[in-house]
Amino acid sequence: MAATEQATKSRCALRFRFRGREVVLDRFLPRLTALDWLREEAGAKGTKEGCAEGDCGACTVVLVRLRAGKLVYEAVNACILLVGQLDGTEMITVEDLAEGDVLHPVQQAMVDHHGSQCGFCTPGIVMSLFAAYHSGAPVTHAGLCEQLAGNLCRCTGYRPILSAALETCNGTPADRFAATDKERAAALAALGDGQDLFVGDEARFFAAPASLDSLAGLYQRFPDATLVSGATDVGLWITKQLRDPARVIWLGRVAGLDAVEDQPNKPLSIGAGVTLAEVRPLLAKVHPDLDEIMRRFGSVQVRTSGTVGGNIANGSPIGDLAPALIALGGRVVLRRGDAIRRLPLEDFFIAYGKQDRAPGEFVLAVEAPRLREGQHYRAFKVSKRFDEDISAVMLGARIDVDGRRISGARLAYGGMAATPKRAANAELALAGKDLDDRASWGLALAALEKDFTPLTDMRASAAYRMKVAQSVLEKALIEVAGPNAPTRLGALHAA
Ligand SMILES: Cc1cc2nc3c(=O)[nH]c(=O)nc-3n(C[C@H](O)[C@H](O)[C@H](O)COP(=O)(O)OP(=O)(O)OC[C@H]3O[C@@H](n4cnc5c(N)ncnc54)[C@H](O)[C@@H]3O)c2cc1C
Ligand code: FES
Ligand code: FES
Repeated sequence: MAATEQATKSRCALRFRFRGREVVLDRFLPRLTALDWLREEAGAKGTKEGCAEGDCGACTVVLVRLRAGKLVYEAVNACILLVGQLDGTEMITVEDLAEGDVLHPVQQAMVDHHGSQCGFCTPGIVMSLFAAYHSGAPVTHAGLCEQLAGNLCRCTGYRPILSAALETCNGTPADRFAATDKERAAALAALGDGQDLFVGDEARFFAAPASLDSLAGLYQRFPDATLVSGATDVGLWITKQLRDPARVIWLGRVAGLDAVEDQPNKPLSIGAGVTLAEVRPLLAKVHPDLDEIMRRFGSVQVRTSGTVGGNIANGSPIGDLAPALIALGGRVVLRRGDAIRRLPLEDFFIAYGKQDRAPGEFVLAVEAPRLREGQHYRAFKVSKRFDEDISAVMLGARIDVDGRRISGARLAYGGMAATPKRAANAELALAGKDLDDRASWGLALAALEKDFTPLTDMRASAAYRMKVAQSVLEKALIEVAGPNAPTRLGALHAA
């Protein structure tokens, strides 16, 4: 089908809600970010640009979406969000909160508790608190620390900000947004037409197919198009590498790409479009270490936008999900046209920047087998900063035990090679070793030096990476060997 024909059968303009009205855009550059649209086209300069790479939260806005008939308020980074990704949502920015001279409760609490000094971070922090205010549950101190991990304040300090939030975010929003939820839900429902979206022409377009078949067809026709899911990676190509993707296919409206199959005794199947926030409770049921890994994955803003498919498809050697899932024996499901194939996740990563994906083929889902009796799992992420930092080294380890004998192991590392990679020599060296004979593990720790020749870069030196890789493996073995061997400051895991 020609793109022009495609266009005639699709909706040809983007539609979202902003300041109580519907915005319709039928011409925009596919690379245009929501932040640039706000500041340069809508003249809404309250939302700030700090880092332009998703780290500082100065650009935080709230997107309101209709999910299962209910409005949800989510904080996202506008700097790495494409304007096209606003389709079907309502965007709320810091200018929208006050009514005339009357500040919104979270703004007033920030004033009362002296939560702002230079004020550069404040619009973003206020929007994160606004999302917490509408989260439907009272905030806790721990929950707030997570909520604010993606909002950097360099001069006030977080104590007054936390006090402002604890005072106001009590789970019962009573602002004018809560008062108009019904009308606003109806307005959003009216935007959800289930039609394919295609803005532009064959040479330059922003498309958002609404079904898997439309996506498969469009991507086969334009295999050089840039697939965009949450844009938490792609957004940086635009803001930092100044790339200008001419053809963009956004996956955020594809019905079924976010499907989840979560049945006991069957592998957990996670659609590529499932967000990192949504996958966290599912992975937590597989093993509590995965909950902890996901808590430390980016920030609330990054996890709200970023997806499982994006994290796997980007092929990053320092992505967190790949080693975590390879250790479980995970598989990736790919689709091209009508053809679907599955392969072990480790085989998907061929070389740096090269994955086993044919032109026009996309990631449909990933599958994560459940742990069986005798299979012990551990995952460790080591990074320079606890919150919102990319791994220097990441280990996902499944250690299979028969009595006190190690019968097998799957050890998958991130940060140690050009791709996420299993430690084949260490796995071999562990087989048959005794959990009670700590000295016997030494061969496996030494074998890591045959498995990997890590790089020195800004995150870590090669020597540090090797030492950490050995240490986290030893830590995993100590934990599996005995429940009385605490190796962490946090809670102990029983499994
Ligand atoms: C501040 C910040 C912190 C971060 N922290 C972490 C972290 O702690 N751990 C970590 O691992 N990563 C981290 N990331 C990286 C990023 O958030 C993740 O890789 C995320 O999962 C990417 O998902 P996305 O949906 O945003 O992908 P996108 O940016 O939309 O896409 C990423 C790549 O995948 C391709 N793609 C997307 N979906 C598909 C599909 N279904 N089929 C085929 N190709 C597809 C795109 O074309 C692109 O090449 C961080 C990023 C930022 C900005
Ligand atoms: S400007 Fe820093 S996260 Fe967007
Ligand atoms: S008030 Fe200055 S950075 Fe937060």
